[in-house]
Amino acid sequence: MPLRGRPAALLPLCLLCLQAALPLRGHRGRYAGDKVIRVVPESKRETQILRAAFNRLKVDLWQPSSPFHIVEGTVTDVRVPQNTSRSLLPYLQQADIAYTILISDLQKAIENQTGSRTYRNRRSLSEYNYEVYHSLEEIQGWMYHLNKTHSDLVHMFSLGKSYEGRPLLVLKLGKRSRPYKKAVWMDCGIHAREWIGPAFCQWFVKEALQMYQTDPAMRKMLTQLYFYVMPVFNVDGYHFSWTNDRFWRKTRSKNARFRCHGVDANRNWKVKWCDEGASFHPCDDTYCGPFPESEPEVKAVAHFLRKHRKQIKAYLSFHAYAQMLLYPYSYKYATIPNFSCVESAAYNAVNALQSAHGVRYRYGPASSTLYVSSGSSMDWAYKNGIPYAFAFELRDTGHFGFLLPETLIKPTCTETMLAVKNITLHLLKKCH
Ligand SMILES: *[C@@H]1O[C@H](CO)[C@@H](O)[C@H](O)[C@H]1NC(C)=O
Ligand SMILES: *[C@@H]1O[C@H](CO)[C@@H](O)[C@H](O)[C@H]1NC(C)=O
Ligand SMILES: *[C@@H]1O[C@H](CO)[C@@H](O)[C@H](O)[C@H]1NC(C)=O
Ligand SMILES: *[C@@H]1O[C@H](CO)[C@@H](O)[C@H](O)[C@H]1NC(C)=O
Ligand SMILES: [Zn+2]
Repeated sequence: MPLRGRPAALLPLCLLCLQAALPLRGHRGRYAGDKVIRVVPESKRETQILRAAFNRLKVDLWQPSSPFHIVEGTVTDVRVPQNTSRSLLPYLQQADIAYTILISDLQKAIENQTGSRTYRNRRSLSEYNYEVYHSLEEIQGWMYHLNKTHSDLVHMFSLGKSYEGRPLLVLKLGKRSRPYKKAVWMDCGIHAREWIGPAFCQWFVKEALQMYQTDPAMRKMLTQLYFYVMPVFNVDGYHFSWTNDRFWRKTRSKNARFRCHGVDANRNWKVKWCDEGASFHPCDDTYCGPFPESEPEVKAVAHFLRKHRKQIKAYLSFHAYAQMLLYPYSYKYATIPNFSCVESAAYNAVNALQSAHGVRYRYGPASSTLYVSSGSSMDWAYKNGIPYAFAFELRDTGHFGFLLPETLIKPTCTETMLAVKNITLHLLKKCH
C-alpha cells in the first residue's frame, strides 16, 4: 500500500484516478457484485472527501438523497457498482474513512426478495395478497376491482395522465353520509423505488374496508371523513422500477438537452422551488425539473389539492426509508405557526406506532430531523392551507434499505396503520 499515510491534502488528486460508474442499462444481473456501504463522516475533512468522491463517481445515494446533504455524524448509505467499488473501497481505506458493508451483493439481495413472485401473485382479486409487492398493473387491476365490488365505500377517479400516458388513479373512501365532510389525502410512491409505500396504501384501503364492519374507530373515521388515497403517485417511475431499474427514483419525463430521464417528484412543487436541497442538473436524483409542476403527475395532484384545500385537513405522504415522521418545514429551519398541534399529533402517532412492535420513529420538522429540501409536496400542502402535513419515512433504517423483505410488509403496515389512525382521530378533535 504505497499511498498509506499520505497527507489528506493529496487525496483530491488521487480522486481523479477513480473510475466513474459505467452506465447500467437494463439487463438481467445488472446489480451483480454491487454493494451498499454505510459511512458516517466524523469530521469536515471526511465530509468533503466523501462529497467530492460521490459527486465524481455518480454513485447512487440511498440516504441522504444527494451529496450536498452529507454532513458530519450523519448516516450515509450508498450503492456502489462493482467496478466502482474496486477503486472506491481502497480509496476510503487510504483516506482512513471507516465504512461498513450493509449489502455485499445487491443482485443476490434482489433475487432473495423477489424470488417466486410470479407464482405467488397469480391469485384471484378476491384473495389479493397484501404481503407481497405488486406491479403497477396488479395495483391498478385491484383498484378497478374495488371500485366495482365496494361501491358503497369506494369511488375511484383519475386525476389525469402521467407523462407516459397512464391514468393517475385515486380511491375516495368513506360513507356518503352527509354533503360536506372533511377529508384526508394520502399518497404513496412519489419515489419509485420505495416499494413499501404503495404496499402500505393498499394495506390501508384493505383495513379500512374490512374494519369498517367491526372496529368502531374505523367506522367513525369513514363516517366522518373522506380519504383520498393515491397508491402510486409516480406511476411511470414505479413501472420502470419493476421492468428496468429497481433503484429508479424519479419520474420518466424526457429532457430536451440531456439524455437523463426524470425529475424528482418531491422537488418539483412550487414552494421555494429548486432552492437548497434540490439540483438543477437533469442527471441528478434530486433534479427539480425545468420549472415548478413541470411533471404532469405533480401538476395533477397540486391542481386537485388546490381545488379541495378547504376540505382536506391532512396531507400524508409515504416514503422510505429512515423510520421518521416528518412535518414542515422542509425548506427552512423555522417553526410552523401551528407547531404545538402538529407536534403533539406526531408525538402521539409515533407512540401509537411503537406500541405495535416496539419500533421507534424519530419525529420533528423535516429540515432538522432529515435534511433541508425545497419544493417538497409536504411543504406545498402546508403552505396551501392544509394544517396537518406529514411525510412518513417507513422502515427500515438501512439493514435492507429499499429492499425491505416482503415478510416485513405486514409488521410495517400494521404499526403504520396505528399512526395513521391516531393522526386521523386527532383531526376529529379540537386542538388549541
Ligand atoms: C432474504 O430474505 C429474508 C426474509 O425474507 C431475510 O431474513 C434474509 O436476511 C434475506 N437475505 C439476504 C441475503 O438479504
Ligand atoms: C368507478 O365506478 C363508478 C361506478 O360505480 C364509475 O362511474 C366510475 O367511472 C368508476 N371509476 C373509474 C375510474 O373507472
Ligand atoms: C394516540 O396515541 C397515543 C399514544 O400512544 C394514545 O395515548 C392515544 O390514546 C391515541 N389516540 C387514539 C385516538 O388512538
Ligand atoms: C392551524 O390549525 C387550524 C385548525 O386546527 C387552522 O384553522 C389554521 O388554518 C391553521 N393555521 C395554519 C397556519 O396552518
Ligand atoms: Zn422518498
